[in-house]
Amino acid sequence: MKTKPRHLLTLLDLNKDELLTIVSNANFIKVNRHEDHLCHVLDGKVLAMFFEKSSTRTRVSFEAGMSQLGGSALFLATKDTQFGRGEPIRDAARVISSMVDIVMMRTFEQTDIQEFAEYSSVPVINGLSDDFHPCQLLADIQTFMEFRGTLEGKTVAWIGDGNNMCQSWIHASMLLDFDLNIACPEGFEPSKKLINLARDRVTVSRSPKAAARGADLVTTDVFASMGQEDQKQRRLAQFSDFKVDHDLMSLAAEGALFMHCLPAHRNEEVTGELLEDKSISVVWDEAENRLHAQKALMLFLLQVPNFSLPQT
Ligand code: CP
Ligand code: NVA
Repeated sequence: MKTKPRHLLTLLDLNKDELLTIVSNANFIKVNRHEDHLCHVLDGKVLAMFFEKSSTRTRVSFEAGMSQLGGSALFLATKDTQFGRGEPIRDAARVISSMVDIVMMRTFEQTDIQEFAEYSSVPVINGLSDDFHPCQLLADIQTFMEFRGTLEGKTVAWIGDGNNMCQSWIHASMLLDFDLNIACPEGFEPSKKLINLARDRVTVSRSPKAAARGADLVTTDVFASMGQEDQKQRRLAQFSDFKVDHDLMSLAAEGALFMHCLPAHRNEEVTGELLEDKSISVVWDEAENRLHAQKALMLFLLQVPNFSLPQT
């Protein structure tokens, strides 16, 4: 019988060692990206990418990453496929996974990705849902470690909405043993179940200053995520005290970094000055690392052996 494929539906599909191996492989790939053996390691493999929501970084990094490793990628907008006309996910999963080697999906519902994975014969990657964004966390962890070393024992401050990014940061805190101080307005907390699961690591307050004090990393995201556009004006008022700026960063630990998954809305959740301050903000490195981290992820899920060793 064929063994079940590994998936990345949330960060908790990995254990700590696997997560750190992927990050370390991502660094190897970054340094050796033009080495001949790496340019052919996925020759002939095909990635199918489903997008129910917009994307720049996720689409470009998966598509470029797959071709740089020798494979190819299909871009499938939900509205142009039978998905958009109501074909059951379980039917699409069986058909598509019989034709391609790996699948990436960006959906509203996390349960849609879960259902696809349940019926898929190939690995499935969550490229963002309303609940989680594990691929972004791979790049964020890689970026922090590149600049500041291990996250273990450190403190991360999440300022803003308790959204998909925040919830994936909670998963990361559980896997990598760091403290996560979340500051969000009332009514915008991450899921209670998740906070409870990570209660040894996570605190939730209403105070960006308390959350940022002593933090080694301060991170945020847009106040209105994809699908919440109609709430934007109301949210801008509700989140008005949650903007990250140089004053807030001055409360953080010496050498603290600023990250944002992007796209950023300057002067809403972060000031333009902070976003562009190269001594604190590492957002461009963070974005580039999506490419390297996802290559490492695909090689891990496809169980490509010894790809890091030059072929003799
Ligand atoms: N950070 C991120 O996932 O960006 P995109 O929405 O552009 O893919
Ligand atoms: N929270 C944002 C992340 C975008 C990458 C959203 O879901 O729109």
